[in-house]
Amino acid sequence: MEPSVALQDQIIKLSQRVQASDNLVVFTGAGISTESGIPDFRGPTGIWKRYQPVELNEFLSTRDARAEYWRRKIELYPQFSKAEPNPGHRALTELYKLDFLKWIITQNIDGLHQKSGFPEERVTELHGTGKYIACLDCNKRYSWEDILPYFHTDGTLPESKDAPRCDSCNGFLKPATISFGQAMPEQETAEAFIRAAESDVFIAIGSSLQVYPAASIPQEAVKSGSYFCIINNEATPLDPMADMVVHGQAGEILSMLVHSITLQ
Ligand code: APR
Ligand code: ZN
Repeated sequence: MEPSVALQDQIIKLSQRVQASDNLVVFTGAGISTESGIPDFRGPTGIWKRYQPVELNEFLSTRDARAEYWRRKIELYPQFSKAEPNPGHRALTELYKLDFLKWIITQNIDGLHQKSGFPEERVTELHGTGKYIACLDCNKRYSWEDILPYFHTDGTLPESKDAPRCDSCNGFLKPATISFGQAMPEQETAEAFIRAAESDVFIAIGSSLQVYPAASIPQEAVKSGSYFCIINNEATPLDPMADMVVHGQAGEILSMLVHSITLQ
């Protein structure tokens, strides 16, 4: 289906902004990875449509919460571990190679920006990473391969066992992501606010922009005078403060953006 004239017009305008920028920063959410087979949280088929999040204090206080948390993670693990970058990730890496995109701030834990060839030292992971397991007390790292055999194949805990613990300090283990109620990584959060404030063009992609403090970061960019564009397939609470809102699929829109830039 031919993109609408309105969308084509938006893409041309955005490509002109990107080409005139000196410090383009992008902020991504789960919506950029759904085209890689990883479900998002609040979209029409999102994870929070099926479950309530397991907060960190619940995880720490009951075996049942730990068991349910791990069951869900292991249920999603096959899609998560097999996921490949999609045209949206690849378009952002192309914008880096064309020397326009300087930095990615992501809420995602899937590592797909890095897997698409975007330099990892230029990706800020606000909510940690699901690529490995870590001890909540001493941060010792474990691989998924180390931990998966501890569980039944359906992700449930053996009846006589509690969730896996660190073999150095006996702390509880969980994927190295930030759960609700868990402190944000200080260094990454501070870095993200600085990168947003220093940007001159800031594009938020595939995020419902409802979770804080992450959703304050695009607002920091707006406060500092950046041109703010939102690319998403539904409305977000920050739309009113955006200079441009592009509705549609991230993969298609970002591919059109790169195509428009390379044409000019
Ligand atoms: N193209 C464009 N937009 C998309 C696509 C797509 N292919 N797929 C989904 N979307 C949109 C959804 O409609 C939704 O508005 O992306 C947005 C994703 O929003 P969320 O699911 O809320 O994900 P995100 O904003 O990243 O959530 C932030 O909340 O649950 C916590 O820690 C978790 O990092 C996550 C944080
Ligand atoms: Zn430990």
